[in-house]
Amino acid sequence: MKFNEQVTRIEPSPLRAFNDMAHKEGAELFLTLGEPDFHTPQQVKDACGVALENNKTFYAPTMGVAELRREISAFEKQLNGVDYDENEIMITTGSTEAIMSALFAVVNEGDEVIVPVPAFSMYKPVIELCKGRYVELNTAPDNFQITEKALASVVSDKTKAIILTSPNNPTGTILDEKSLLNVYEQVKKRDMFVICDECYNQLVYNERRPGFVRFQDLREKIVYCQSFSKPYAMTGWRLGYMMASKEFIEQAFKVHQYTTVCANTFIQYAAIEALRFDPAPFVEEYRKRRDYCYDRLVAMGLDVVKPEGAFYIMPNISKFGMSSMEFCTRLVKECKVAVIPGVCFSAEGYMRIGYCVSMDTIVKALDRLEKFVAGLEKKCA
Ligand SMILES: Cc1ncc(COP(=O)(O)O)c(C=O)c1O
Repeated sequence: MKFNEQVTRIEPSPLRAFNDMAHKEGAELFLTLGEPDFHTPQQVKDACGVALENNKTFYAPTMGVAELRREISAFEKQLNGVDYDENEIMITTGSTEAIMSALFAVVNEGDEVIVPVPAFSMYKPVIELCKGRYVELNTAPDNFQITEKALASVVSDKTKAIILTSPNNPTGTILDEKSLLNVYEQVKKRDMFVICDECYNQLVYNERRPGFVRFQDLREKIVYCQSFSKPYAMTGWRLGYMMASKEFIEQAFKVHQYTTVCANTFIQYAAIEALRFDPAPFVEEYRKRRDYCYDRLVAMGLDVVKPEGAFYIMPNISKFGMSSMEFCTRLVKECKVAVIPGVCFSAEGYMRIGYCVSMDTIVKALDRLEKFVAGLEKKCA
């Protein structure tokens, strides 16, 4: 039996596969998945109960519940200073589905999609499912920022889109003004889209600055994908949204309609409450963990960029002369500590530590990592 070529060619998530392997190997400390360890705020759970009591159990409109879309419109105006009305906001099953619908809406066979790497692992397989070409822009030599030169070296007449993930998974970096302007200059003169994946944009440690979406003179080229998963500790609820011009939504709508019909109805009502929740207490807790991780990694002699958002940190481990897979597999087997190899994010020579776990787990894991690294350094010397 022959299956669809595009589907057979792609692999299941390498990140999940590594995590499963670590479980099988009996790892004890997991800093692997990108999932807040907090519970969903009580007011959101209560609103969900009320929605169920009120029998909000029928199909929702494909675009999503109008009340929620209006709330999002007001919320985005306040957060990013942008004006998108309810017909320019589509509720999706997590931001995963928003990103997927966006890519399916724009990529033709042979089209190139630029992905600054290190990058979240879903982009490549989805681009390939669309028969597009995944084009890496390596940001590692530039502190994970996008330089004019690096961008110019990857754009071409076939460029259809660029994906901007800020704050970034796996590095925690926020694209600075220069990076955004470099992208702006290219996009202004080309026929290309910008897919803004900003699911961590409320989890930031310095003053919040609107991302690429603020360039509203390029409105028809921008698609903004957002999630309830990370800011409100709602990963299992599976809710997100896409915000874009009416023309863009009109196309993405069809992909969304034929994949999901609509996002879960009663969860959309609960999400209205989520928008009223201020995630500042979560951010403060992540900040403590970020500071602790950063200081410990620096003290171990690892080269690391201080994250400005999200809940990941990505030290360079290339000096140990082994692949990131080998390093992380040994860390699992010898120390029972699981972190994700950089290769899962197109970032060989790095590992991703997720600090969205308890401080106790972080302290124990970093103690063991410190010993592991010291042992390797002795051998290298
Ligand atoms: C950068 C980025 N985008 C999108 C997602 C997808 O999140 P969700 O589908 O839960 O909204 C994730 C999840 O880890 C992520 O890290």
